[in-house]
Amino acid sequence: MKIAVLPGDGIGPEVAAQAVKVLQALQRDGLKFEMVEAPIGGAGYDAAGDPLPEPTLKLAREADAVLLGAVGGYQYDKLPRPQRPEQGLLRIRKELNLFANLRPVFVYPELADASTLKPEVVSGLDLLIVRELTGDLYFGQPRGIRVNAQGEREGFNTMVYSESEIRRVAHSGFKTAMKRKRRLCSVEKANVLETSELWREVVIEVGRGYPEVELSHMYVDNAAMQLVRNPKQFDVILTGNIFGDILSDEASMLTGSIGMLPSASLDGANKGMYEPIHGSAPDIAGRDIANPLATILSAAMMLRYTFNLEDAAQRVETAVRKVLAQGLRTADIFVPGTDKVSTGRMGDAVVAAL
Ligand code: IPM
Ligand code: MG
Repeated sequence: MKIAVLPGDGIGPEVAAQAVKVLQALQRDGLKFEMVEAPIGGAGYDAAGDPLPEPTLKLAREADAVLLGAVGGYQYDKLPRPQRPEQGLLRIRKELNLFANLRPVFVYPELADASTLKPEVVSGLDLLIVRELTGDLYFGQPRGIRVNAQGEREGFNTMVYSESEIRRVAHSGFKTAMKRKRRLCSVEKANVLETSELWREVVIEVGRGYPEVELSHMYVDNAAMQLVRNPKQFDVILTGNIFGDILSDEASMLTGSIGMLPSASLDGANKGMYEPIHGSAPDIAGRDIANPLATILSAAMMLRYTFNLEDAAQRVETAVRKVLAQGLRTADIFVPGTDKVSTGRMGDAVVAAL
């Protein structure tokens, strides 16, 4: 099993190192992972003048799965857009055709108090966002900044989805729902946007093939509100790239910290890239205080979705629950009475719990 490890920038290398530790610990039990590291994002720019250097892309193509830390840093913010770290991430998603982004939002009983919402609103929460990842405003053409007829500059982007793009991610959504509580809520803005009108039509069509799944539709503004009002009404949320980006950050706070949320980005054949949904947090980089659990849980998703190792995936998830039950907390999820630990110690504790 070949894994491309792309630590990236900021806290990326620190958290990726903990997930690597966990995968190495599993190797002692007979699994065999070949892990090869390469730079991406700002690290790619520093190494090769490109946020997605050619050898990194080649390695990612050859590997069965990609483990990514995070990309981005203040020092790169002034670079021309194609050289910025985020472009490395967007390009690798596109190049590997990773159109289905799975973002589970799960509240650990031990962390129900860490959320800014009332414990009774979030405790027991278990939902999953399926975000389309290779289309929409993120990639639509034309885009740019131009001078209009009045001589004023204007910025423009194109929201566009083809039927086939909607259909394939809708299938991912329905298939995911089949393995869960069989409820799928498709989120768009069909009262205003044609892109969303087509989205809804195609989702309904695809849904006919999954009669056991209860399909509902919600406008994105309402969904944003419902997520904080009564998040437990959701099982699977299926949505486009930009709405999914925003809603998944919102949903992460239901769990107490964005430092807890893993993700899987899959192509049609379960090749995947696995990354925490948080960013590179340059303000805390190098201080050994970041939460590595989102990345460790991303490695668990890799075991599940790409390698079909459900047992191993569950072992990692159980180990994470154990360390939380032991009272270990990184700074982002710390509450008085628990035991504040560093990034490295948290990784070691998960390995010990395995
Ligand atoms: C995410 C991030 C990325 C996105 C950024 C870093 C380009 O916010 O994975 O959600 O917008 O998709
Ligand atoms: Mg985001």
